[in-house]
Amino acid sequence: MSKLQELKEQVAQAALEYVPTNRVIGVGSGSTVECFIHALAKRPPLGAVATSHRTAQCLLDLGIRLIHVEDIVGRLEVYIDGADEIDPKGNMVKGGGGALTQEKLVAAHSDQFICIADESKMVPKLGKFPIPIEVLPKAHRFIMQQCIDRGWCPKLRMDPLGSTPFSTDNGMYIMDVSGISVDCPQSLEAEISAWVGVLTVGLFARQSAHIALIAHAQGQGVKTYLFET
Ligand code: 5RP
Repeated sequence: MSKLQELKEQVAQAALEYVPTNRVIGVGSGSTVECFIHALAKRPPLGAVATSHRTAQCLLDLGIRLIHVEDIVGRLEVYIDGADEIDPKGNMVKGGGGALTQEKLVAAHSDQFICIADESKMVPKLGKFPIPIEVLPKAHRFIMQQCIDRGWCPKLRMDPLGSTPFSTDNGMYIMDVSGISVDCPQSLEAEISAWVGVLTVGLFARQSAHIALIAHAQGQGVKTYLFET
């Protein structure tokens, strides 16, 4: 097993402590979350709200009761998800897997966002990882121009074969934008979210993490970081 995979499994295991018994929880997307779902299958919650088709399939395959986002009643106590970057205040970049809209939606339904990641995701400032923006296909050129006008570098995400644009679970496109200096994640999130044709930007400053469980290499184990939100 690779070192990285070991770290993912360690943090997945640590996250089990935060799963309330007899409750429905929110579950994000990505490879770290998939390790978490495998761990969760040994002591399943009452149900889990999935944030992508892939997570939903993984929950079903492992016999965990699946709840759809639109069927959430009331608040979820806990939402557990990975991140592409997390800063010292718990702000995140997410959407590397393309599930950012459902992730933000489930996070908005939840009282506590618990981010699980390996140490490579901790950064002093967001923006090295290109920031994903989920956009209406018809608006993608307009949004590309908005980015260029600000000196940023937008790239339309393509499917793995590179012949057609990547399509999200919502039938949208993703623009991966690099060259952004994220000085104030909250105001940048608000600015981009307001553009016509944007469904969701992968900056999670309003829905920042309350807790991060970070797996550190060289036998340092999983450390817990608490954020003021
Ligand atoms: C998917 C996400 C993931 O949480 C993020 O990409 C991290 O994934 P991984 O655990 O595979 O590194 O935001 O939209």
